[in-house]
Amino acid sequence: MQFQWYPGHMAKAKRMMQEDMKLIDVVIELVDARIPLSSKNPDIDSLANNKSRVILLNKADMADQRYNKAWKKYFEAKGYFATLVNSKSGTGVKQVQDIVNKACQAKIERDRKRGILNRPVRAMIVGIPNVGKSTFINSFVGRATTKTGNKPGVTKGKQWIRLNKNIELLDTPGILWPKFEDQKVGLRLAFIGSISDTIINTTDLSLELIIFLSKHYHEAISNRYGVEAAEAVDDLKGASKVLEQIAIKRSCLLKGGEPDIDKAAIFLIDDLRSLKLGNITLEFPDNIAAKTEVKEGTTEASNKQE
Ligand code: G4P
Repeated sequence: MQFQWYPGHMAKAKRMMQEDMKLIDVVIELVDARIPLSSKNPDIDSLANNKSRVILLNKADMADQRYNKAWKKYFEAKGYFATLVNSKSGTGVKQVQDIVNKACQAKIERDRKRGILNRPVRAMIVGIPNVGKSTFINSFVGRATTKTGNKPGVTKGKQWIRLNKNIELLDTPGILWPKFEDQKVGLRLAFIGSISDTIINTTDLSLELIIFLSKHYHEAISNRYGVEAAEAVDDLKGASKVLEQIAIKRSCLLKGGEPDIDKAAIFLIDDLRSLKLGNITLEFPDNIAAKTEVKEGTTEASNKQE
C-alpha cells in the first residue's frame, strides 16, 4: 500500500519545533500505546538532543495491557522516563508531574548549585496528529488556568501555563510528523485511523489486518465473527477468504447474494478501532516477537487500572 506524504508541512513543523526547543528544559512526547514506535517522530531525538525526555504511552486503555508494560520497559531501557496514560479518563495523568520532576532532577540540581532556586522547569508537549495531545493537555492542566504570558526577550509570542511552582508548560503542543516513508509504519498508522481513510483502500487495509491478527490475535476474529480459518492466514489470498466469510457472517451481501467484501472490510476496521476486537497492540518491542512470549496472568486486573 502507498501513502501520501507532504514535505512542505514537515519542513515548516520542523522549523517551528527547532525554535520551541530553545525555550524548554523537557520534552514530553506522546506516542500511541498501540503503535509506540510507528507513532514516534523519527527526528525528535536529534531535535531534542540536550533536553530531558519523557515518553507518555497514551491511549494505553486501547492497547493490550501486557505489551504496555513491555513497551514502558523498552523506553526506560533506552534512557527515557516513560509512563502509561489514558488522557481521556485521566488515568496516569497525575503521575506525569512526578515523572517530569524526576526527568529534570539533574537540571534542578545544576540550578541549585548556581544559586538559582525554585525556577520552574519548562516543558513542551509534542506528538503526531491525533495521538491525544489536546486531550492530554486538558487533563494535565485541569484547573491550573494561570497563563504566565510572554517573557520578554526569551519567549516572544509564547504563552505558558503555570502548572504549579515547579512546572511551566508551553501552551501550544508541537505537532510532529510520523515516519511516512516506511510502508509498515504507514500501515500501522492507517490501522489506528491516523491516516485519513479517504486516501487509503479500506479493503486492502483490512486484508493486511487479517494477516496481522491471524498471527498475533487469531482469537479476536473467531470470537467476534465465528470465523475459524483466521488462525492459518499468512497471505492476501487467505485473508480474502477470511474477509468473505466475515461478510457472510455479518450478512454483508451484494444484490446477487455474493459477499460484499468492501462492506465487511469497513466493519472489520471499525471493530478494531472501537475495541470490539478487544485490546490489540499492533506493534511489538524488538525483543518480543509474539503475544505468547509475554507473561500471561495479570491482564484483567491491570486493564482495570487503565
Ligand atoms: P491531538 O491533539 O494530538 O491531535 O489529539 P486529540 O487530543 O484531539 O485526540 C484525538 C482523539 O483521541 C480524540 O478522539 C480523543 O478523545 C482521543 N484520545 C486522546 N487520548 C486518549 C486516550 O488516552 N484514550 C482514548 N481512548 N482516547 C483518547 P476523537 O474521537 O477525535 O474525539 P472525541 O470523540 O473523544 O471527542
